[in-house]
Amino acid sequence: MDAPLVVVNFKTYSTAMADAAEALGRQMASVQTNARMVAVTSAFDLSTVSAISGLEVWSQHLDPVGQGSHTGWLEPETAIARGASGTIINHAEHKVSIEHVKQLMAMLPDGFPICACAADVAEARALAELGPTFIAVEPPELIGGDISVTTADPSIVSDTVAAVKEVNPNVRILCGAGVKNGQDVATAISLGAEGVLLASGVTKANDPESVLSDLVSKI
Ligand code: G3P
Repeated sequence: MDAPLVVVNFKTYSTAMADAAEALGRQMASVQTNARMVAVTSAFDLSTVSAISGLEVWSQHLDPVGQGSHTGWLEPETAIARGASGTIINHAEHKVSIEHVKQLMAMLPDGFPICACAADVAEARALAELGPTFIAVEPPELIGGDISVTTADPSIVSDTVAAVKEVNPNVRILCGAGVKNGQDVATAISLGAEGVLLASGVTKANDPESVLSDLVSKI
């Protein structure tokens, strides 16, 4: 099996933007682990955080537009030039249409990781038809909360794994919402996920470095 993923979405937390994004990126890069650590930064911070050696950096969103007259949109080629080596799309906080995901995938270079987020099994199944690299299942009501999806709703993880693999066995599953510690990561993996997508457990931690070490402690 490929290395499990620990994907940290910096969102727009003040503790994970601008200078704080660089500091958090450096902390992520310093974790000794076999896990694949990914920082998902604001478009503003792609350049600086991707300059940190040993850290994989994804964009939080991209738009299926080319270079030209597209004011305010997140154009993929420039994101890649500025250090994005993957992206998430259709996050619960930035929903898009299936058509958006499809058009974006058609524009991205071969092998460029794209993680499509799904709120439930049905949405995960629909996204699986497009064949993204990853699908991250995240029940919106658990996002930002204290109870991990792996505890509150373990069956949504295992059911998503089963549904997605039935549609396309190559798509890899992540889960997220409320993930905070190494036990949550271990449970996610035991449920068939290949990693986690999380935010507040790291971005709101008093000591992000020890949270990051704990997150990978059972991998
Ligand atoms: O993208 C990760 C996310 O939505 C989960 O957030 O704060 O519950 O870990 P959080």
